[in-house]
Amino acid sequence: MRRPFVAANWKMYKTPQQATSFIAGFLPLISEQATQVEIAIFPPAIDLPAVVAGVQGSTVGVGAQNMHFADEGAYTGEIAAGMITALGAGYILIGHSERRQYGFETDEMVNRKLLTALRHNLVPVICVGEHLEERNDEQTEAVLHKQTYAALKDIHPEQAAPIVIAYEPIWAIGTGKTATPQMAADAHKFIRNEVAELLGRSVAESMRILYGGSVKPENARELMAQEEIDGALVGGASLDPASFYKIVQAAS
Ligand code: PGA
Repeated sequence: MRRPFVAANWKMYKTPQQATSFIAGFLPLISEQATQVEIAIFPPAIDLPAVVAGVQGSTVGVGAQNMHFADEGAYTGEIAAGMITALGAGYILIGHSERRQYGFETDEMVNRKLLTALRHNLVPVICVGEHLEERNDEQTEAVLHKQTYAALKDIHPEQAAPIVIAYEPIWAIGTGKTATPQMAADAHKFIRNEVAELLGRSVAESMRILYGGSVKPENARELMAQEEIDGALVGGASLDPASFYKIVQAAS
């Protein structure tokens, strides 16, 4: 009942020209999956116009990797939700671990960005996940509890439908180490229960929870076979059209 969702997080890769050539290579591959799987690409902000233009007429969505929580203001280097929607992009990544780590993004900022995103009708993909030391110290659930509760503070069940959560164990991002399907499924189940406590069981049961962290064509099928895993947030393996396409196929 939850529609699979596969998202490409390009991080700080690709110029606008390279983005355009990715789209030209990717769109012809996806015709069959187009209705079964929701697909979105999160390019660097400067590539957004090229990607929005490239996917026009297809079912592929586009999102930004970051935005400010304010609607506008003296925030040099930042972009606002209204700028993203004005371009024709419909999604926003919030609280990616690299933003938390290098951009000093806090749980409180994640929550403020989520409220802003919903106000602007952007589909928010909120990232949560634990560090390796936290997993080794058996703190995974405590971390996921804290991040989920903080992110969803002041969100009402009736506004929650667009929200997507991505579970990304930090030790699995860009490292080639993937959580086992069982580990990921356990974390997803825990997150879903947290959402149920906050927003009710029916909101939790319809919320998509994606797995991210070294998802590749080789491991995507096994991960996506888990009932609890509703799709993937893909970094490195989303930079090549054929490899990203294989992950979309695995989700369909
Ligand atoms: P990765 O990145 O697939 O390269 O591990 C995932 C992410 O950071 O979203």
